[in-house]
Amino acid sequence: MSPIAALDEHDAPLAILAESIHTVADGILAESGFRVERVPGALEGEALRSAASRAQVVGIRSKSTIRASEIQSPGGILAIGCFCIGSNQVDLHAAEVHGVPVFNAPFANTRSVAELTIAEVVTLCRRTFAQSSKLHRGEWDKSAAGSHEVRGRTLGIVGYGHIGSQVSVLAEAMGMRVRYFDIARKLPLGNAQSCATLEELLRESDIVTLHVPATPITEGMVGAAQVSLMRKGAHLINNARGTVVDYAAVATALRDGRLGGLAADVFPEEPSKNGEVFASPLQGLENVILTPHIGGSTAEAQEAIAVEVAEKLAAYWRTGSTSSAVNFPGVDLPRLREGETRIMHVHRNVPGVLGRMHTLLAAQSVNINAEFLQSTRETSYVILDTELVRDRAVLQALAAMPETIRMRVMRV
Ligand code: NAI
Repeated sequence: MSPIAALDEHDAPLAILAESIHTVADGILAESGFRVERVPGALEGEALRSAASRAQVVGIRSKSTIRASEIQSPGGILAIGCFCIGSNQVDLHAAEVHGVPVFNAPFANTRSVAELTIAEVVTLCRRTFAQSSKLHRGEWDKSAAGSHEVRGRTLGIVGYGHIGSQVSVLAEAMGMRVRYFDIARKLPLGNAQSCATLEELLRESDIVTLHVPATPITEGMVGAAQVSLMRKGAHLINNARGTVVDYAAVATALRDGRLGGLAADVFPEEPSKNGEVFASPLQGLENVILTPHIGGSTAEAQEAIAVEVAEKLAAYWRTGSTSSAVNFPGVDLPRLREGETRIMHVHRNVPGVLGRMHTLLAAQSVNINAEFLQSTRETSYVILDTELVRDRAVLQALAAMPETIRMRVMRV
């Protein structure tokens, strides 16, 4: 089956969604002409093979794995939606070289993490969690000792990206002073002020909250040396990645009172599924809030993820846009104009392909009105908006070029 025949614009595309993706996705895909089928649980085994051969779009979350073998069939999956933050459950390279863009929603849970962080700032400063634990044990201990308002206190934010900058806005709304440190130059929001170094931030903050990615530089970024720079009784929050903090050093500082409290949502080693045993040097310590990596886990984040990924898939189907794909040459495309043909051609990135495409079209006197091109090292994605192509032979010739990975044609 040629790519053109498989992807004729008159096909009613099929989207198969697995793992209880939020139902808001169904409506968005249906509006773009998709039929939507649901698979309960993870997409695996025969259900995965069937989806890969029947569906143009497959939507998964983190429990399904899509390998090269499921991606390879020509005329098979056209695009993959990872309805979550990450995308490493898909063989991204195989998807790229077979012309399959993969979309995800890397920042849809930003607000959820920011809100949890703000809740922890207040909870640590009031020692609410410690007081609550005592009461659970039957100990009534009504006291204001060590309990503070957050108004007027200084919050130090390490990593002023999507989450860090949201935390900044919320903290200022509660009357906090905000300092931040980022390796990239970042525009301060509100009255926040940047610090030249991490050390400066640690010295000047009452609460330090970490919002950096896991990189070789951030590994062990906060250990004994950094804790020793913090104000006595200061609080630390790590809702970023477990590798960023040396928890053994932090546990020692909590025990000897150098640190006043800690909230941690992420750990260097996390159980892979519910019910597994979790062990950490932080367990049993006073004024320590431990949460099982749920910073971004809210109903609202699930809905936001479904909207974002479904809209990206729908845009790819309607226009060919790939600008937000994680593994693919990124092209942002306008809607096709009335009376035009759009040729979306994915090919191996080798010299001469574009020239031969032009020659094939020119030989049939097909005029090119607009051209868009992006490439990765191995793959090129070229989009040609031409006057209406009535002769399928020229399209077949483009699809039959030896470098072609796949091709899609759209007409309005
Ligand atoms: P982002 O990419 O928008 O921001 C990260 C910021 O950190 C950037 O501004 C970057 O320049 C800065 N940065 C990188 N290396 C740095 C360094 N060595 N020193 C100082 N700044 C540095 O990322 P986003 O979305 O704000 O996420 C931040 C962290 O939160 C990530 O580690 C992410 O994995 C984690 N996260 C945790 C969740 C949870 O459930 N607990 C959910 C979502 C994200």
